[in-house]
Amino acid sequence: MNKNGKFITIEGTEGVGKSTNIAFIKSWLAAKDIEIIHTREPGGTPLAEEIRGLLLTKRGEKVDSRTELLLMFAARCQHVSQKIQPALEQGQWVLSDRFTDASFAYQGFGRELGFERLEQLEGWALQGFKPDLTIMLDLPIEIGLERAEKRGEKDRFESEQIAFFKRVRNGYLTIAEKEPERMKVIDASGSIEEVQVQIEKILIEFYQNYQTEIAMETCS
Ligand code: TMP
Repeated sequence: MNKNGKFITIEGTEGVGKSTNIAFIKSWLAAKDIEIIHTREPGGTPLAEEIRGLLLTKRGEKVDSRTELLLMFAARCQHVSQKIQPALEQGQWVLSDRFTDASFAYQGFGRELGFERLEQLEGWALQGFKPDLTIMLDLPIEIGLERAEKRGEKDRFESEQIAFFKRVRNGYLTIAEKEPERMKVIDASGSIEEVQVQIEKILIEFYQNYQTEIAMETCS
């Protein structure tokens, strides 16, 4: 029996439809008898959720980009050590709405702190811990922001300029180019059904690989 669960993350810029598609992924896996723990970043534990509050609140004081990055990682270390890794070790699957790729995209590219600095920090803080699968919902920034507009009051990130989000999107696409096996880019500009057909294709392949892994472990 496979002792470790799988870790899936979902990423994208504002308004790409993460919530709707998280619900789809959960129900698709539930039909295969896989219950997945749904969590989010920044956040996921009581302490990390407090850090989320600090990060998202709009304030008069300018937030230094390094402060922002370190708070993201502070929350992440707590989340990984207290929630994600213990769950995976017990064989549970975990689905996180955002993870380290968001720091590469938002802080590394959006805030222009740089890819190498992010790699160093990731190496130290997470020691090679990465998702097994990342689904990146990709949408032209203008369309996503228009959708996000309808959600009410904007947080500190949503209040950023369009140029910032264009760098973030470019950041995600750069990671996907570097790690095509792990990060799958979905064209999120179509209808919900069209987007879900693409996600389902990825899930089918991922699930088949998982079953092969289990079969091999049973044989050995
Ligand atoms: P959410 O709106 O998807 O819940 O995420 C909160 C905001 O935090 C979102 O605008 C993206 C941002 N963020 C980063 O800038 N860096 C990170 O590492 C994470 C996890 C989120």
